[in-house]
Amino acid sequence: MNFLKKNFGWIIVAILASLPLLVIFKMINVDFSNGLSVSFAENVVGNDKTTVEMLYHVSGEFAIRWMTAVLTCTPVFIIFGINNLFVRQAMGIATAIWSLIHFAIFIAAEGFLETFSQVNYVLGFIAILILIPLLFTSNRKSMKRLKKNWKKLQSFAYVAVLLSLIHVAILDKTWMIYAVIVGLGFIIRIPVVKNKFVIFRKNRKAVSPSS
Ligand code: HEM
Repeated sequence: MNFLKKNFGWIIVAILASLPLLVIFKMINVDFSNGLSVSFAENVVGNDKTTVEMLYHVSGEFAIRWMTAVLTCTPVFIIFGINNLFVRQAMGIATAIWSLIHFAIFIAAEGFLETFSQVNYVLGFIAILILIPLLFTSNRKSMKRLKKNWKKLQSFAYVAVLLSLIHVAILDKTWMIYAVIVGLGFIIRIPVVKNKFVIFRKNRKAVSPSS
């Protein structure tokens, strides 16, 4: 019971991040009869999209959603004083894994070399290259080992989100809502704005016990 209480947050993130995998598995056929072969299932998507388009859609959307969510952790801490390192790390892992799934689908459908055929894919690729070291250092051990450099390394997530947003914008898909959320987060991080929120929060905390 104590374990659940302590780890509730990241367990919820892990469950939420894993659930869309069920949708992905429905669209993929894995065959072990002649070694391992993976193919895209046909006639499993109801609307006007093909299976591959739907796979891009599901994986890309979850990658950008988790990326946006993880970048709102600091603004949420500034405004509400709520912080949970394990939840944040679980969100970071979900971001990297969904981005890698998205890229794996692309490689399976188009081949690795196609990555370099369009600027927007190259931008996505650089974002993924950035996310890989972030994925492997998203844990307490690395935090202790890297000390100050850990924060520096993690700040590359901002570059990754910028590249990902440009990737999605060039593709003319939904990007504005994520850009607005991430942009507001940046404004809240500006020291003058941040200090106002922190002072407001602390004042409210000081007043509330007696009211
Ligand atoms: C090597 C890296 C990447 C490649 C090759 C790639 C490729 C693609 C392709 C082919 C599409 C579908 C385009 C279409 O339907 O017209 C797509 C869509 C998308 N990608 Fe990527 N991508 C990459 C990285 C990323 C990353 C890092 C993110 C975000 C974290 C991302 C988020 C999205 C989103 C949100 C969509 C739109 C999905 C939709 O609503 O249909 N991609 N990407």
